Amino acid sequence: MNTEVLVINEENIDKELLEYAGNILKGGGLVAFPTETVYGLGGDGLQAKSSEKIYAAKGRPSDNPLIIHIAKMEDLPFIVSDIPEMAKKLADAFWPGPLTMVFPKSDQVPYETTGGLDTVAVRMPIHPIALAFIQSAGGYVAAPSANISGKPSPTTAKYVIEDMMGKIDVIVDGGGVEIGLESTIVDLTGEIPVLLRPGFITKEMLEVVIGKIQVDSTILDGTSKEKPLAPGMKYKHYAPMGELTIVSGEPLAVINKINISVKEMEQAGETVGVIGTLESVGQYTNGNVKCIGSRKDDSSIARALFRILREFDNEKVTVIYSESFEECTIGQAIMNRLLKAAGHRIIYV
Ligand code: TXA
Ligand code: MG
Repeated sequence: MNTEVLVINEENIDKELLEYAGNILKGGGLVAFPTETVYGLGGDGLQAKSSEKIYAAKGRPSDNPLIIHIAKMEDLPFIVSDIPEMAKKLADAFWPGPLTMVFPKSDQVPYETTGGLDTVAVRMPIHPIALAFIQSAGGYVAAPSANISGKPSPTTAKYVIEDMMGKIDVIVDGGGVEIGLESTIVDLTGEIPVLLRPGFITKEMLEVVIGKIQVDSTILDGTSKEKPLAPGMKYKHYAPMGELTIVSGEPLAVINKINISVKEMEQAGETVGVIGTLESVGQYTNGNVKCIGSRKDDSSIARALFRILREFDNEKVTVIYSESFEECTIGQAIMNRLLKAAGHRIIYV
């Protein structure tokens, strides 16, 4: 398949070009597009065939439901059978934005889109290109992250091209994304809301608006035997090719441990990568050292994480050591993704 790449400037959106991409999606085609979190791989959420094509392009198991992206609140009632009061409050506070809510689905949504579930996940992104594209595509864009299943979510069009060239109709290149980690997911179908995936909108931010929420126990504890409530969270995600280990403890002890381990691994013939921060990178003596961002700015770390994991893959790194991060604010989402990438391998020093 020939994949067209359309470059669109978010400051000066070419509506005609988006209209063209929107028509391809309405006609049953697949279009990748930027959102504020990560790039999405869009198909028409109301067409069963489009959702099937999405699963095929990603190589994703079809029991892993898709998020439907909308551009305006008026479009929500068509795809859900009930809008709880709490959802209205959360939408007022965080939509458009990086929050996904799970509702009971309406009959309009095919089971192919929801992976056979009677619920549907919905998000209204805030990225101007995403909003304009959704409108031009008919209003209901089913979109998982635009990566091959198991790879880190793409934070620039370059990585979408790497994974999806020749497999989908169009890639809308709108530059780098703002947040870099996927949206927060909260399930509102039960009596008490449940956080299914941590993201930029934190548990604390949600609780300010709707009171106490539960956290799916499988989110942070990799040893849990329970089945995650978001089916996609059970798959080994974000895994780099190199074996990643997180080292946690006092900063100097962490740096020492990583320096010693890198030397040992290099002697054993491995190609070793290190994930450090602005505050520490100068102190690493060996290995392919990358700065993920500043500890004074968690959002810089969130934005760079998936890019760095992909760079290590492209550089054929076989072993990776990463520092650990504080689990406050977006740090919870950073550690959730990093722990998954590490298969929950963490050393305390
Ligand atoms: O930021 C994001 O959410 C990005 C952008 C493109 O919007 N999308 C994204 O989609 O991350 P995806 O498919 O990679 O992850 C969606 C997650 C999966 O873990 C899936 O299992 C869960 O949402 N999910 C979808 N529908 C669900 C439902 N009805 N109930 C529970 N979990 C659901
Ligand atoms: Mg994904």
